[in-house]
Amino acid sequence: MNSKTDIKIGLFGFGTVGQGVYKVLGQTKNAHAEIKRICVRNITRPRKTATPAGLLTDNAADIFDDPEINLIVELVDDADASFRIVSQALCRGIPVVSGSKAMIARHLPELIEMQHAHNTALLYDASSCGSIPVIRNLEEYYDNDLLLEVKGILNGSSNYILSRVFDHGENYTDALQHAQELGFAESDPTFDIEGYDALFKLIIITVHALGQFVPADRVFTVGISHIRDCDIRYAREKGQKIKLVAQVAKVSDRSFTMFVMPELVEKSKYIYSVDDEYNGVVIRGECYDRQFMFGKGAGGLPTASSILSDIMARRHDYRYEYKKMKYVDRPSYTTDVTIRVYIRYDETPVPTLIPFTKVYEQLITPKDKYIIGDVQLSDLIARRRLFDSHDVFIANIPVLYTDRDN
Ligand code: HSE
Repeated sequence: MNSKTDIKIGLFGFGTVGQGVYKVLGQTKNAHAEIKRICVRNITRPRKTATPAGLLTDNAADIFDDPEINLIVELVDDADASFRIVSQALCRGIPVVSGSKAMIARHLPELIEMQHAHNTALLYDASSCGSIPVIRNLEEYYDNDLLLEVKGILNGSSNYILSRVFDHGENYTDALQHAQELGFAESDPTFDIEGYDALFKLIIITVHALGQFVPADRVFTVGISHIRDCDIRYAREKGQKIKLVAQVAKVSDRSFTMFVMPELVEKSKYIYSVDDEYNGVVIRGECYDRQFMFGKGAGGLPTASSILSDIMARRHDYRYEYKKMKYVDRPSYTTDVTIRVYIRYDETPVPTLIPFTKVYEQLITPKDKYIIGDVQLSDLIARRRLFDSHDVFIANIPVLYTDRDN
């Protein structure tokens, strides 16, 4: 490919990230790519970004039937619509760059099949951690079995909320509203604050880290909506912060585990200083110990920068090979692991409902009740509803690999 605009893009979706991509492509001189058509649900909706007449359409066929369009960029905020667009494109042999993590996390095995069957590519670095190049690095640089753990703050909105509440004394509801106004939060912010957005990213990361796809309903996922002042006070007294952390970790040569939940983070950890809408990813492996990637994980322009990187990668016909899925020895997923947790509760009799294997600390006062102990992850999964419907807050106290951190 070498003419000035050798990539002609059909863009689906013109929200925060779509408009970011439009701006970024307008600024860059070496992308050799232009947006030929933008398909939106509602052409007349007022938008911050002005576009030339005729660029917007509400008819997908204007993109699919245009023989000049050789790349589809899909940034639609509806997982079902997004899957329909991406599968239609792949089945027609048109490569796609997508940022739709919920859709990818749900359909990745089918999407991999489609890429093979139609000899085309789907790139989605923007789906996980905004501007941080996590996926392509895991796929290429970490193409070996030294990798032990990928762990971090993968959701910008919840991190922004926690930072505002923790460091600036703002109230939770105001902080959430600001995250929405700043364009970090999903249109349904429950995904951000209940941990599902981080979970979708973790599922995608796990495919590229360890070559295994784990469906969302098998992963213990708890968010930050039940955090109370007493939890913040507890963390502060210990010199710690509470962060929403997603992690996938090998627990033996043959198995790995994964979960998303708030974590009590010590000052010495890289992710302690990851605040506001920033994301931070720690990659741990044999031989190199820990590496740390830090950057903006949400917002139109940061995410657009990642889309631009995938668009330019297509100039060289780059595609994911899903190399680790072809490894002969792949670890399998287990929830049969012991983790340590802080659980703060109110009326719910947590100590009798959760089968702790060891209890380290317990406080029962008329105002505050909490317990710290070891528990099997599988036992937490079996009692998952306890953390949705009751005034109960759980935070992980890391034990995996902590012996290697000094
Ligand atoms: N809502 C997401 C977040 C956007 O807050 O991280 C980026 O994926």
